[in-house]
Formats: sequence, C-alpha cells, structure tokens
Amino acid sequence: MTSRRNFLKACLATPLLAATPRLTLANTQMPWTLTASKTTHRLVPGDDYQDASVWTFNQTVPGPELRVKKGETLSVDFLNQLDEGSSIHWHGIRNINAMDGVAGLTQPEVMPGGQFRYQFPLNDSGTYWYHSHAKTWSQVARGLYGPLIVEDESDPAVDHDLVLMIDDWLLANDGTIDEASFGSLHDWAHGGRLGNWLTVNGESHPTIEVAKNSRIRIRLINAANARIFGLNIPATAFLIAEDGYPVPVKSTQDVVLAPAQRADFIVDLGTDDVTIFETGNNGPYPAVTLKAVDSDKPLVSKEVLRQPQPETPPTMIDVSIPLHMQGGAMGNLREATFDGELRPIRELAQTHKKAWAFNGKISHHHDHLAKINIGQTVSIEIWNDTRWNHAMHLHGHHFWIQKEDGTFLDGKRDTYLFGRGEKANLVFVADNPGLWLIHCHMLEHHAAGMAAVIEIT
Ligand code: C2O
Ligand code: CU
Repeated sequence: MTSRRNFLKACLATPLLAATPRLTLANTQMPWTLTASKTTHRLVPGDDYQDASVWTFNQTVPGPELRVKKGETLSVDFLNQLDEGSSIHWHGIRNINAMDGVAGLTQPEVMPGGQFRYQFPLNDSGTYWYHSHAKTWSQVARGLYGPLIVEDESDPAVDHDLVLMIDDWLLANDGTIDEASFGSLHDWAHGGRLGNWLTVNGESHPTIEVAKNSRIRIRLINAANARIFGLNIPATAFLIAEDGYPVPVKSTQDVVLAPAQRADFIVDLGTDDVTIFETGNNGPYPAVTLKAVDSDKPLVSKEVLRQPQPETPPTMIDVSIPLHMQGGAMGNLREATFDGELRPIRELAQTHKKAWAFNGKISHHHDHLAKINIGQTVSIEIWNDTRWNHAMHLHGHHFWIQKEDGTFLDGKRDTYLFGRGEKANLVFVADNPGLWLIHCHMLEHHAAGMAAVIEIT
C-alpha cells in the first residue's frame, strides 16, 4: 500500500475464508429495519493494519441482503443514527416517486435520530441495490450500501445464488479510511474518488465455498464511488442480465461494470476452484475465490438457459432532450450558469467545488431539465463532451441505449457508461410520474454539478 492513489490493490496473501458473505432478512417479518450507524470493520487483514471506521446499515458492510419476490411489497423502516442527515435510494427500482429516497428532491433528508418508512411494490425482478442518497460522495464511500435482490419464478434453477458487491476503498497506510482526501477538488474535477483497496462483500479477496459441478448465479454489483471495474470469470459463464434486466444469453467470461451497474452470470463449475479477477485497472487483482468442495446435496439439472422475450425499442420519439455534458479537468467549459448567474468555471470550482455542467448550467434539484407528459416517449440525447468517462443514471425508469449510428444495444439499463466524446440517446417511455433525477454515478461528478431533474406529470 505504498503508492496511495490511482492504483488498485488487492490482497495477494492466502485468501481468507469469508464467514458468510450473505446476510439475509428473508425469514423475518416485514417491515424490516435498516439502521444507519457508525462501526468499525477490518478491510485489510494483517497485524500491520487497523480496523477502519465505516458507516453501515445494520453494522455490516455491505448492509444486509434484502431478498424479496417479484410482486411483493418491500417495507423498510429506516432509522438514522448518524450525526448527519441521510436517506435510502433503491437503485434501479422503477419506484413510486415519494419512495425514491433522493434527499432534497423526493423527501427531506432523515435527520439524526429520525426515521422514515419506505414501502413500495417490486414489479421488476433482478439484481438491484440500495444506498444512501444524501452526500453520497462521502456516505456511500464509507459503506452505506447493500444488495436488493428480486426473485422471479422463472429464474433459472441454480445451486448457489451469490451476490458479490465490489468496492474500492481509498485507505491510508494503516488500513483506515483516508479521511483527508474526502472532498478533494482534484478528485471532483478528474475521475472521482478512486480507491486503492479492493473488497468483495466488504472482505479482501474472500473465499466462498460452493459445490463441485454446481450451477451458480453470480450477481455482480459495482458499489464503488467512481471506479470502473473489469471482471473476469475464468469458467463456463453466461451473461444473462445487466442492471437487473435480462439480456440475450451470451457465453462470455468478461464484463465491464461502471459505478452502480450490475451484471448477472450463470456459471457452471467443474471440480476446480475459480478465482474471479479484476482486470480493468492495471491488474489483474484476485477479487474472490469460489472454492469447489464436495457436497451431498443433489445438484440442479443444468437446463439450457432460456432466451428472454425481446422488448422492442420505440420507433417514434415524442420529446428529445439534448444534454450536453461539459467540464472537468482538461475540458472545454469556460463558464457556466450557477444560481442564475453566468460565472467563470475557475471561480465556481474554487468557491463552490463545481466543475461540470449540463447544457452550460450547474443544476440544483429545483431546476428542471425538462417537463414531460406522462406516457410520452423520450430520448435524452447525451453528448459527453469531456475528457472523462461518465456513468449516467436515470431514476425511476429503465432506458434503451441508442448509439450514434441509430442502432440500439440489447436490453435496457438504468446506468450507462459514456466514454470520452461519446454520443448516445437514452430512450424511455415516461410512464412513472414524479421528479426524477438524472446524474453521473461517479459520485464526485454528481456532487460537482452533473445532475438534473426530469419532471413527469
Ligand atoms: Cu444509485 Cu441517484 O443513484
Ligand atoms: Cu461523471
């Protein structure tokens, strides 16, 4: 851990045996309780390191795995025992607006000592997650996140269903969270807070025991503030869903996950252990090892994976919303409108830590990018006119991605990674009323200006 910044490290020592990577509340009665509070947690094993001070839901990193069935209503009492306001956002869920958890937009932040009941139906199955949506660049980085899994009767039968939440932490040399770098203007105007320590389910290179020759569903979730992970599963592996949404079954061992994105794989194990590697950041780094053990439990039959019914993207667009993204280091943004006033970006960076703009404007939650009538088909025409990647996330909807040549990618997503200079349209039917945030999920970029609101009435 000598070079502190920009290089991801992982534990190369003998893998730890992860106690139990899954916590589930599935057997208890709803409403469930998620309590945000501070605790300590060991991120780097070994005598030379210390416990880190983390912020958690229910004292664990990640928070408990919430597992429900499609069609059920989730009911969660959120208790805030932090000393600052917070909230919970249910990432990727096409939620009721008042339950979306965006502090300052869909609800006031839940104050210290306060509580809030989230209650909403889950109409889409798949891999989702929950996280704080107040001061996310600090709260999510400190550990306020957890998985939300919605099961479907038609899910392929598997022997193991593993949720792997991947994060990179920016740690000081003693293994504690690097506090001094929070809010660094440099990070906010560059690639965000990039960590130097890789964890899966809060552990350094954990080992998870699975049965030899078993069929495993692996649900990968990128919980990092800003890091784009490349993940490699050296086994017989099939990609079946992205951002919870089924995609044509594809035999592949690799996936790129931007912050907040998810990917679901079916892996058919042999008799050997499999180590999943992070391969996108000058590694490879071992992320997690699946240890193949003997088991008496009968295994499921490995049925041919069914192709999903393709949902065809709309051909007619009712409303086009241009969204020109500018700013950041080495960018072409000289000035931007902030609080109704056109000001040099240099000054905005130094006095307000704002570095990015949509359509020349640095938005507050109350400035609306567009007003849409319910039922209209919308195309947000995004141009990433910056030198950085951005993981654009739309709340409350799933969108198709239309590339510059007019073709659509397979499936729908809730978060799409824009490369430098890329243009693409996010196309969706505005069928969910309310105030919906669209923002970069590189959380420092969001804090430094990359956000807007779409109003659907
Ligand atoms: Cu994952 Cu605005 O959220
Ligand atoms: Cu960004």
